[in-house]
Amino acid sequence: MSKKNIYYAALIGTGRIGYSLGLDKKREQPASHSMALNANRRINLVAGCDINAENLEQWHRANKKAESFSSVENLLKSRNFDIITIAVNENAHLETALAAISAKPRLIILEKPVALNMKQGLQIKKAAEKNNVPILVNHERRFSKDYQKVFSLIETIGHLQSIHASLYSGLRVYSKKEEKTGAYSLIHDGTHLVDIVRFLLGDIVFEKPHVFGVYRSEDGAVRNASAQYHTSDNISVVFDFSGRSRFFGFEIILTGTEGRISIGNGLAKVEYSRPSKLYTNFYSLTEDKIRFGKKTGYFSNMIKNAVDFLDGNDSLGSTIETGLAALKMLEDIKKRL
Ligand SMILES: NC(=O)c1ccc[n+]([C@@H]2O[C@H](COP(=O)([O-])OP(=O)(O)OC[C@H]3O[C@@H](n4cnc5c(N)ncnc54)[C@H](O)[C@@H]3O)[C@@H](O)[C@H]2O)c1
Repeated sequence: MSKKNIYYAALIGTGRIGYSLGLDKKREQPASHSMALNANRRINLVAGCDINAENLEQWHRANKKAESFSSVENLLKSRNFDIITIAVNENAHLETALAAISAKPRLIILEKPVALNMKQGLQIKKAAEKNNVPILVNHERRFSKDYQKVFSLIETIGHLQSIHASLYSGLRVYSKKEEKTGAYSLIHDGTHLVDIVRFLLGDIVFEKPHVFGVYRSEDGAVRNASAQYHTSDNISVVFDFSGRSRFFGFEIILTGTEGRISIGNGLAKVEYSRPSKLYTNFYSLTEDKIRFGKKTGYFSNMIKNAVDFLDGNDSLGSTIETGLAALKMLEDIKKRL
């Protein structure tokens, strides 16, 4: 492989998604940017940056050949990069993205959500367009084989009637007090939920949610909320957000006129209408033996998409536009809480 085929990358933010989730033995690996960038033979991860000395040192110990920087400014002064990955906390997306854009890499990989709010997100988009810097937003399920398979199977369940998408966690769904930190599930994991439903429906625009089932705890934080949309194809789409569950759950159930698909974390099932085993002359849903495979490639495929894009062989599978469309939906829901 000739040297010009290698893309030089920098990682900003060496925390969980930047580095340490890649050490989790239960997760499908690679599960962090550092591990995924290193696993791709076309990429050379040459620098890392973090303002947290401990996180930076831990990362550097595992990436000894790369340079480490304690400030974004010094990192960006050090050399040109083909790829800059931004995996800092939500409240630092705007300033980090603007700095990275001004260094004009050939591609930025930006962690979700794009920013804390639409105002900031649009600032990032404007700067990226002005400087001609493409942005790949890491809504990773778009690159995951199981969700891609579901996308191709939707037509087999007849006319879609409804989608029920749920997110369960112990993190508050929303609190005005956390606007500046982004520490609430509507934005934190809710962005994945609305983004992947958009992906499954071909990136249609969702407008005017009907928000209901809002429950607040004594501190005023929203702990439960649901939002319903009615698409122009007559599909009822309901999102349920729970912030008082002692488990993490992420699931989407698509019901068609001929069957049902369930997909989510630890969930992949397809059922079709078949002569019922329960009642004579009735049809019931019966599970089909469709194989989803164990490896989804959710992270490595995202990185492959970055390389294919830089090679000029593919378009980005998750863009600043799709990232902002998800953020806009969450903001629309937030306004109605
Ligand atoms: N795609 C996913 O599935 C997924 C999973 C987890 C987190 N995330 C997202 O990734 C981002 C980081 O989350 P995390 O869980 O890794 O958080 P984290 O706190 O574990 O790591 C963030 C790191 O960024 C560093 N940082 C913050 N501001 C910085 C700055 N200005 N310059 C340099 N470094 C800075 C912090 O010191 C920390 O080490 C968030 O946007 C989060 O929503 C995405």
